[in-house]
Amino acid sequence: MLDIKVTLSDHLKAKPADESALGFGRIFTDHMFLMDYEAGRGWHDARIVPYGSFAIDPAAMVLHYGQAIFEGTKCYRRADGGLQLFRPGDNLARMSRSAERMCMPKLDEETALEGLKQLIRVDANWVPHKEGTSLYIRPTMISMDVGLGVHASKKYLFFIILSPVGAYYKEGLKPVSIYVEDEYVRAVRGGVGFTKCAGNYAASILAGDIAEQKGFSQVLWLDGVEQKYVEEVGSMNMMFAYGNKIVTPRLNGSILPGITRDSVLKLARQLGFEAEEGRLDINEIFADAKSGKLTEAFGTGTAAVISPVGTLALKDEKVVLGDGGIGKISQKLYDTLTGIQYGRLPDENGWIVKL
Ligand code: COI
Repeated sequence: MLDIKVTLSDHLKAKPADESALGFGRIFTDHMFLMDYEAGRGWHDARIVPYGSFAIDPAAMVLHYGQAIFEGTKCYRRADGGLQLFRPGDNLARMSRSAERMCMPKLDEETALEGLKQLIRVDANWVPHKEGTSLYIRPTMISMDVGLGVHASKKYLFFIILSPVGAYYKEGLKPVSIYVEDEYVRAVRGGVGFTKCAGNYAASILAGDIAEQKGFSQVLWLDGVEQKYVEEVGSMNMMFAYGNKIVTPRLNGSILPGITRDSVLKLARQLGFEAEEGRLDINEIFADAKSGKLTEAFGTGTAAVISPVGTLALKDEKVVLGDGGIGKISQKLYDTLTGIQYGRLPDENGWIVKL
C-alpha cells in the first residue's frame, strides 16, 4: 500500500444548513483523494488535498477518446453517530473490471480503499444526519496522456470526491414513472454495457431528456439486438415482483452488475422470497402488469437505493403497477437494506465496514 500524504484545507466551507434540501451531487466536501499512474511506475503519489479544480491539458486523451470510469458508493451515519461503509471493496473491484475492459490500469484497490477511509475521516463532519441522507462517494479514473493518436494512455489520474446527498429522485421513496425506450439503445453485446464508463451515461442522456419532457423520471433500456428484453434503467437495475417471486434481468454483459442488485437478491432470498435472474420480455412484463399478475416493480442502485416504479409506459400505452404506491416487497427490501446500511439491523453478510 502507498503512503498517503495529507494536506488539509485552511478554508473550510460552510456545511449545508438544511439537510432536507441536499438533492443529489450538488455540494462537495472540503477535501479529495488523488493518485497518479504511469506505465512502468504504477500507481504513485497517493494524496489527500483540499477539494478544488485541477489542471488538465486540452489534448488529454480523456477529453477526446473518453477513457473515463467511475464508481458510486456511500458512507452512512448510524444513530450512535458512528460512520460506516457498505461493500466499498466490491465497488473498487468492479472498477478494476471496468478498467480492464476500457484498457486502463487495474486499480491499486488497497490504497484506494485506505484513501477513501482516510478522506472520509478528514471530512467526517460532512456525513449528514437526517434520515435517508448519506455521503455519496465518487471514485473516478481518467486517462491523462497528451496526444490525439487513438491508443491506450500511459498516464492516468484516480480521484475520489465526496458529496452529502439526499434522495436521487425528487420523488424520494415515492414511486417513479418509467418510459420504455424503444428507439435508442444503451449497450450492445460485446460492448461496454457492464462497465461504469462515462460514455454509457453520455449515450443515455438524449433518451432521458426526451422521456423527461414526456413527464417520466427515467427510461428503461431494452437489449440492443432485438429491442425486446429488459436491460436496466441506467441509474439502477430493475426488478419485478410476481407475488412472492422477484425476477430481474440476468447479467449478460450489457447491464451493470449492480452491488445493490446483488445485495437485494441475497436479502430477498434470506427473507424467504424467491429471486430469479432471467431474460425478461418487455411485452410479457407489460401484459402481466396490465392483467395484475405483475404486482410490483422497483429499481436498485447505490444512488437510487430501492425506487418503486409506479407507472410504466411502452409506446403510447401506460400501465400503473399494483396500486401505484409502494409495494410490500419494495418496502420490506428498502427497510432491510437501509436498516443494514444505517446500522439499525445486524449485518449478517459481512457487508459493513465501520470507520
Ligand atoms: C450510482 O448509483 O452510484 C450511480 O452511479 C448511478 C448514477 C448516479 C449515475
